[in-house]
Amino acid sequence: MLIRELKEEDIEAIKNIIKEGFTENDAQKAEFYFRLGLDKKASKAFRVLKYFVGIKDKKTAGVVGLYALEACPEDVLWLGYFAVKKEFQGQGIGLELYRHAEGAAKKMGTRLFCVETDSLKEKAMDFYKKQGFAEGGRIKNFYEDGSDQIYMHKELK
Ligand SMILES: CC(C)(COP(=O)(O)OP(=O)(O)OC[C@H]1O[C@@H](n2cnc3c(N)ncnc32)[C@H](O)[C@@H]1OP(=O)(O)O)[C@@H](O)C(=O)NCCC(=O)NCCS
Repeated sequence: MLIRELKEEDIEAIKNIIKEGFTENDAQKAEFYFRLGLDKKASKAFRVLKYFVGIKDKKTAGVVGLYALEACPEDVLWLGYFAVKKEFQGQGIGLELYRHAEGAAKKMGTRLFCVETDSLKEKAMDFYKKQGFAEGGRIKNFYEDGSDQIYMHKELK
């Protein structure tokens, strides 16, 4: 699989992948950040805001993002908008995208790699646990009743 940085022409396809994995509303919000990531001047509030796409058999198979607000400690980075197109799930694509993102995070000198997820996304939580993430905090009923916000983290050095 080819993994490269996001280009304008990828946005429609990755928006659809986000819609499949999350909701239409999430896809709209994601588009805002994808476009912000492409516009270096507009993304001044972020120290890091970049997205990688995975291309398999000429199809856009998945997306993974890295971000940190300027106010975030310099050696802390977040993983965001990580999703694989349904037809490509369970084939190791998520793992490849994740490893690419972790490699890029290490190159940036990241000590603490963090991700925020939803307690109902058990598949994603299992995925992160297998990659060495631990739960660091939880806000009960954050998204809605029975759906907690979970902070996970992994030490990269
Ligand atoms: C979480 C997500 C990104 C994982 O992507 P994925 O491509 O399905 O993940 P992988 O295929 O790399 O890994 C999943 C499983 O396939 C296995 N696998 C790895 N390589 C494989 C291969 N070549 N062939 C078959 N299976 C393989 C992995 O070991 C893993 O096994 P497990 O089910 O025992 O954990 C995907 O499920 C998704 O998009 N979910 C919806 C959105 C979401 O929840 N995002 C995260 C929110 S924070």
